Amino acid sequence: MADARDAKTILVTGGCGFIGANFVHLLLRERPAWRVLNLDALTYAGNLANVADVAGDPRYQFLRVDLTDAEALQRALAGVRPDAVVHFAAESHVDRSILGPEAFLKTNVNGTFHLLELVRKWPGCRHVQVSTDEVYGSLSDTDPRFCETTPINPSSPYSASKAAADLLVQAYHHTFGLDTITTRCSNNYGPYQFPEKLIPLMVINSLAGKPLPVYGTGRNVRDWIHVEDHCRGVLAALERGRSGEVYHFGGNAERANIDIVRQIAVTLTGSDALIQLVQDRPGHDWRYAMATDKSERELGWAPQWAFDAGLRATIDWYVQNRAWWQQILNKDYLIFYDKLYGGR
Ligand code: NAD
Ligand code: TYD
Repeated sequence: MADARDAKTILVTGGCGFIGANFVHLLLRERPAWRVLNLDALTYAGNLANVADVAGDPRYQFLRVDLTDAEALQRALAGVRPDAVVHFAAESHVDRSILGPEAFLKTNVNGTFHLLELVRKWPGCRHVQVSTDEVYGSLSDTDPRFCETTPINPSSPYSASKAAADLLVQAYHHTFGLDTITTRCSNNYGPYQFPEKLIPLMVINSLAGKPLPVYGTGRNVRDWIHVEDHCRGVLAALERGRSGEVYHFGGNAERANIDIVRQIAVTLTGSDALIQLVQDRPGHDWRYAMATDKSERELGWAPQWAFDAGLRATIDWYVQNRAWWQQILNKDYLIFYDKLYGGR
């Protein structure tokens, strides 16, 4: 990708989800000459409210398309020649992949395949595959952090489907010469995250006085990154990454789940009395941790948010945006909630 001042058309998939919406905001704010096409199926996780403030921007366009429908995808993008695709769209929740893996294969594997077939028809188009640390599997407390050459070893249907997509991207680079970049990131938190993931779930349950369900011992460890830091990393990889390479992003903030939940509970309720240890997630990965020195060296990227400040700002965002999450607490959400936590 050349100069940031050049006019570019960027196709963002999944731009109505958590990270995609934050990325759309970043692009429109920091790359004024660029045009953004947001392609999203609006699944349960996609929400037009996440991008409502940019809907009237002449540089922005929304396309409601399901990536699993190859013909609809081709029709919607006929005549479009993006300079780059940034592929966020996915089924993204591990617990849902345990309850129903099929949608993960359809969207994460077949959907990525359909997209790559289109990218092949757009000469010079760069494909950025937004992936996850979960493709590497699980670490013990003393293992070194994942690096870009760590062998892929996924353990959930979610991470297996993301790993399959990453391998397809790698194959399209080697076989067809596609200009690809794969980014892998640790657990994100921040505004617009759907309240099925740990941090927003614990925030809204604390606000509602509901139990805070912590799986197993609560000692599983994740590395937490603020979504803005992830999005800045994806943009840096898009603009400065070397073709065919993998880049890591992480927040340098490894925390045990129980410590985060306690921090949220105490902030919002003054005690940890709502915490309940519940039956563990099947196949629950113990620890994830990312080495990010390659991205720091090659992309000039580093996380800006300290975890405590980022968590505080995120809690404040959910407190100040009750209407946003209250409209999500509909019948489908409650059915899923009962199905998942009722059995634990
Ligand atoms: P999300 O679930 O919040 O959003 C996913 C978006 O994709 C939604 O807008 C949804 O409508 C859309 N989508 C789903 N299926 C689609 C389909 N078939 N066609 C078109 N659109 C579809 O997810 P997120 O947390 O924003 O994650 C975005 C990406 O980042 C995913 O690829 C995920 O694997 C990756 N990632 C997430 C995290 C994290 O902590 N959330 C960490 C590392 C990597
Ligand atoms: P999650 O946000 O689902 O992300 P991931 O599984 O992709 O890392 O979960 C983060 C951690 O929090 C994970 O170890 C599972 C745990 N967890 C709970 O203990 N209780 C919950 O209700 C949820 C949603 C997650």
